Amino acid sequence: MTFGHFDDENREYVITRPDTPLPWINYLGCQAYFGIISNTAGGYSFYNDARLRRLTRYRYNHVPFDFGGRYIYLRDDESGEFWSPSWQPTRHDLENYTCRHGLGYTIIGSRYRGIEAHTNYFVPLDENLEVWHLTITNQRSQRAALSVFSSIEFCLWDAQDDATNFQRNFSIGEVEVEDGVIYHKTEYRERRDHFAYFACSGEVEAYDTQREAFVGPYRGWDKPLAVERGRLTNSIAHGWAPIGAHQVKIELAPGGSGQITFVLGYHENPRDRKFDPPESQILNKQTVKPVIAKYLNADVVDAAFQTLRRHWDGLLGILQVDTPDAHTNRMVNIWNAYQCMATFNMSRSASFYESGIGRGLGFRDSNQDLLGFVHMVPARARQRILDLAATQLPTGGAYHQYQPLTKRGNNEVGSNFNDDPHWLILGVAAYLKETADWSILSEPVAYDNEPGSEQPLYEHLQRSFEYTLARLGPHGLPLIGRADWNDCLNLNCFSDTPGQSFQTTTNKDGKVAESVFIAALFVLAGKELAAMACAQGRNDEAKSYLVEAAKMEEIIRRHGWDGDWFLRAYDDFGRKVGSKECAEGKVFIETQGFCVLAGLGLDNGMAAKSMESVRRHLATPHGIVLQQPAYSKYYLHLGEISSYPPGYKENAGIFCHNNPWVMIAETRLGNGDLAFDYYSRINPSAREGISDVHRCEPYVYAQMIAGPDAPTHGEAKNSWLTGTAAWNYFAITQWILGIRTSYEGLQISPVVPKSWRGFKATRIFRGVTYHITVERTGDGNRIALTVDGVGVPGEVVPKPPDGRREISVRARLS
Ligand code: GLC
Ligand code: GLC
Repeated sequence: MTFGHFDDENREYVITRPDTPLPWINYLGCQAYFGIISNTAGGYSFYNDARLRRLTRYRYNHVPFDFGGRYIYLRDDESGEFWSPSWQPTRHDLENYTCRHGLGYTIIGSRYRGIEAHTNYFVPLDENLEVWHLTITNQRSQRAALSVFSSIEFCLWDAQDDATNFQRNFSIGEVEVEDGVIYHKTEYRERRDHFAYFACSGEVEAYDTQREAFVGPYRGWDKPLAVERGRLTNSIAHGWAPIGAHQVKIELAPGGSGQITFVLGYHENPRDRKFDPPESQILNKQTVKPVIAKYLNADVVDAAFQTLRRHWDGLLGILQVDTPDAHTNRMVNIWNAYQCMATFNMSRSASFYESGIGRGLGFRDSNQDLLGFVHMVPARARQRILDLAATQLPTGGAYHQYQPLTKRGNNEVGSNFNDDPHWLILGVAAYLKETADWSILSEPVAYDNEPGSEQPLYEHLQRSFEYTLARLGPHGLPLIGRADWNDCLNLNCFSDTPGQSFQTTTNKDGKVAESVFIAALFVLAGKELAAMACAQGRNDEAKSYLVEAAKMEEIIRRHGWDGDWFLRAYDDFGRKVGSKECAEGKVFIETQGFCVLAGLGLDNGMAAKSMESVRRHLATPHGIVLQQPAYSKYYLHLGEISSYPPGYKENAGIFCHNNPWVMIAETRLGNGDLAFDYYSRINPSAREGISDVHRCEPYVYAQMIAGPDAPTHGEAKNSWLTGTAAWNYFAITQWILGIRTSYEGLQISPVVPKSWRGFKATRIFRGVTYHITVERTGDGNRIALTVDGVGVPGEVVPKPPDGRREISVRARLS
């Protein structure tokens, strides 16, 4: 069952009924001003930091699920009837409802009693504001006299405080209204130099800024009193709940149409020019007025929208593919790349499942996200890497998270997630392979943001590597610390107190529990670091990294192999985790995928056996589960992993993040059919037809799909902000389609299904456009390359001669 369809040409998903199984959302903004918007115009906006600079209020976990948003009401001033063209909040039966989620914009509209209304919501590039561009058409045979009402509820900036500190907050709300523009200036009188504004291009008949005046006593947004009466009251908020609502009257002849633009924005004033006149408490509006005036002009709005569309054309144009599979094309060319940009912008902070007040930017997460977006915005990737590295500690360990606004490590969560430092090496490697910008390695970067502690980035990477060498356990495997990639495998936690954080509670000294996963990660990071060292002529260092990586491989072979698959870990008692010896949790995905991905066991049959075990024990039609059998009860020595009911999240859910590790592993074994099969099982577009089962958006990945142990097997949760985006993009583009960045140049090594006759791709890489054609002439994965008609040895396209901007590459697969 579906709730809409893809419009690939316009790069949109078109939702055709408003009551989707869950809110299906989109993101507005891609630089500093951001918004989340659902298919019924729910959601909120913020500047840079979803917790500390929240512009509008949203009520998570509300009933209905999605509530609070950018709501518009239309009122027929003759009949008195009113409705919302985005369905919420009035939920009238609309005709022709559509929501078009596009790249950085969402257009929602419908028809009701002959009045067609559509609003295009977007954030213009380089601006700290959002536009709601409303077009209304009268399809009746008579003239229509309508009132249009906008509405927004302001958040008092710190979203956490806003949702809890009512004894103060009900007394601090302040606004000003001038020329129909509503200014929200709570706390501006004291230490803030920023405010929000809400403007309207139509002639403002009246406004409201006090919520209760607008909705009325004991009413909700579905039936606001002021809208029902057809008259706003010009209320001014003093304390309580400041809102913004405009009323504009519009008369339309039959067939006539009109447009109104609403602009909601964020603005900062220079500290010494906060007030106008200077000693007054009145907001200085001189600096913001030109911005407002600009966007109330419909031509400017149209042009800004076109610029936004071109911006995305440019980003997505860096890699476009044409394969025999429509789902692959759609995800690679549009939605997966787009989701990678969202995870870059948001990390794991603000979605409909991440409240925007919980997590900052994750160290591990953000480094992995780089894999998916580095080719689109390399300069911003560079900055992200430097910011992340600056939260690294002198020990080589890292803060697990940092706040985007301050760029400081988060002390509440702290460090000691022993996999963290290695992801920095992988992130930098991805950046270097894309850009060849070796200068980043000599960039001075502080430790823990401490001025004076700056050392070249390269040294940070060395310390990352050494961090593990200084923390080896009884078998010579890396100590796990609080957790490794799996935040829920808490082998030193031993928490029996309700409410304690599994991630930060540590009751053991951590000298015993070891992670085979970190061992595999260390092997991969070691090889990457060696390649970097080598490229800089540091051959001795390179050699020593390879020696350490080889030693670790040997230790994994000796102590990390269970006979048919790789072990997962050793617990605090030195017992195996992820072994035939265990009653539950016998086999885990992480080490199967990551060991093989890191090249382990390719030469001795272990890799093939490990993948066979994945097939036999972990693969389901909806994707590959994290482990089997699921933990049926809470185990003190395992921690959060055993806290979830079987089949969900890290307890035998299909954690989509690490499915691509297995896809890559299968390509390393040359199994294109199986790699692609695994890819398709969790490809959201390929699952569109079962939207009633899957329930999350069919255009983006979700973190998790319930495993077979759950009663809701196949149901997705936690869409949008997940490492799944980057890893799937990486797996399909670099390993299955095999268009892979390398230090030497662009490598073409497809491992695709046998039934494919070939495919085409265009890739812009280091300033050169590669037109790639892959043709299958045999069943295998052997490659013969021709570049501009001339055969070349190997799988890497040689660096094109200077000045050459386009080249054509043919790869014969046999
Ligand atoms: C979440 C976290 C990620 C972690 C994963 C597995 O997705 O953001 O850091 O690796 O869960 O626990
Ligand atoms: C919970 C989640 C996990 C996430 C972690 C960190 O443990 O299960 O997916 O990574 O929280 O916030």
